Amino acid sequence: MNSEKQIDESRQGEVLVLENVQLGDDKKKVYIETYGCQMNFNDSEIVASILADEQYATTDSEKDADIVLINTCSIRDKAEQTVRNRLNQLKNIKKKKKDVKVGVIGCMAERLKTKLFEEEKLVDIVVGPDAYRSLPELINEANTGQKAVNVFLSKEETYGEIKPQRLNSNGVTAFISIMRGCDNMCSFCVVPFTRGRERSRNPYSIVAEAKDVFDRGYKEVTLLGQNVDSFKWVNPETKEKVNFANLMEMVAKISPNLRVRFSTSHPKDITNEVLYTIAKYDNICNYIHLPVQSGNSRVLKRMNRTYDRAWYKERVEAIWRIIPDCAISTDVIAGFCGEEEHEHQETLSMMDFVKYDLAYMFKYSERPGTLAERKYKDDIPEDIKNRRLQEIITKQQAHSLERNEAHLDKVFNVLVEGTSKRSEEHIFGRTDQNKVVIFPRKKFQKGDYVQVKVNRCTSATLFGEAVEN
Ligand code: 5AD
Ligand code: SF4
Repeated sequence: MNSEKQIDESRQGEVLVLENVQLGDDKKKVYIETYGCQMNFNDSEIVASILADEQYATTDSEKDADIVLINTCSIRDKAEQTVRNRLNQLKNIKKKKKDVKVGVIGCMAERLKTKLFEEEKLVDIVVGPDAYRSLPELINEANTGQKAVNVFLSKEETYGEIKPQRLNSNGVTAFISIMRGCDNMCSFCVVPFTRGRERSRNPYSIVAEAKDVFDRGYKEVTLLGQNVDSFKWVNPETKEKVNFANLMEMVAKISPNLRVRFSTSHPKDITNEVLYTIAKYDNICNYIHLPVQSGNSRVLKRMNRTYDRAWYKERVEAIWRIIPDCAISTDVIAGFCGEEEHEHQETLSMMDFVKYDLAYMFKYSERPGTLAERKYKDDIPEDIKNRRLQEIITKQQAHSLERNEAHLDKVFNVLVEGTSKRSEEHIFGRTDQNKVVIFPRKKFQKGDYVQVKVNRCTSATLFGEAVEN
């Protein structure tokens, strides 16, 4: 595990298709390839749903497609380069099938807007994350030979009533967006520019969606937002207020057999009320993703994270106090502008303090238009960034192993998600703390809750054996 790529949480160009759909001859076919975070994957499911209403079916073959959509990520420069390389490869499809239209959607579309038409000649359609409802019209426009674009950012759009088509789903775990955008303006981050202002979805539409997936056999939902702790909704008529703790409780009450996860928590906003709600419900998972970014207060200030080292440690201690067996994961950035050696050491010592179960670790990548790009110099030489990142990775591997070893000889309730990649005779699932466990299949199937005793582990995976329930 020594390259950033292997530890980047961004998923790379997965193709999303609706399984078991018979394509009628009359249906046009859309191929959707998705890069980046889970929100993007969920957005692709919304796009598929919008297009399905207009008689488009998804296909897993770009060669069959009438429309090729690439849902993109801008978070780091490398994510954008990957998309550009992919667009380069796609040039061939137009040679073979002249009428096919290529659309770039998502964060890169929003960031680059019509510049994308100049820079990537292949592209016919550019659509930002808040404009997916206009995709059918834009496709029609592109079919007349024009370039079609909509990068309007909305203060209201939540796609609240759209039922996402569950694409490539395992039928067990579903992701539900509860809010969109971000108002935090962390100085390194492009998201507030590409996904716009923060807005929360109507909680009753969220509960309805969670109930719908549960009724269709799903056993776990993950509530998604850039900063779930700032979820806030007020009923315009009754003035009823719903915060994130209330929302989690509403979803948890659907059934004790429905597991509830959520991501991402912001250290400045995570409240004790949220922690007590997690502790109160067995089916709200004891796992919190709490990005620290840096362990040094001066760097955190320059990152505009609005908390300091002492605040973060206090929040971790509150988690340990209120939810003693809670797993904690994080995001870390190595080599932010002006980061001094002793400040990097404070990131390492923060890691020693928390002993994270898992971390996503990145080198700082300057993003155009962000506060950091305008205010600070990206002055840490590449070799130093690499060395600091490597130190962070090495430490994390030791902590992941130590955390996993603490699971040995203990029994966990595992929700089975599917067949292990290594062998047909083995299945895998996750514990409440989000640890992957592999164990012999025997009579068990996807969607079962199984008591598994852990007998072996690596830093990434637990291995075990089912025990009698
Ligand atoms: N450079 C490196 N990492 C970044 N992240 C966000 N922006 C940047 C950037 N410019 C990381 C943060 C965030 C995660 C989703 O991506 O750690 O929490
Ligand atoms: Fe980016 Fe910060 Fe918002 Fe996360 S909280 S999306 S890092 S601005």
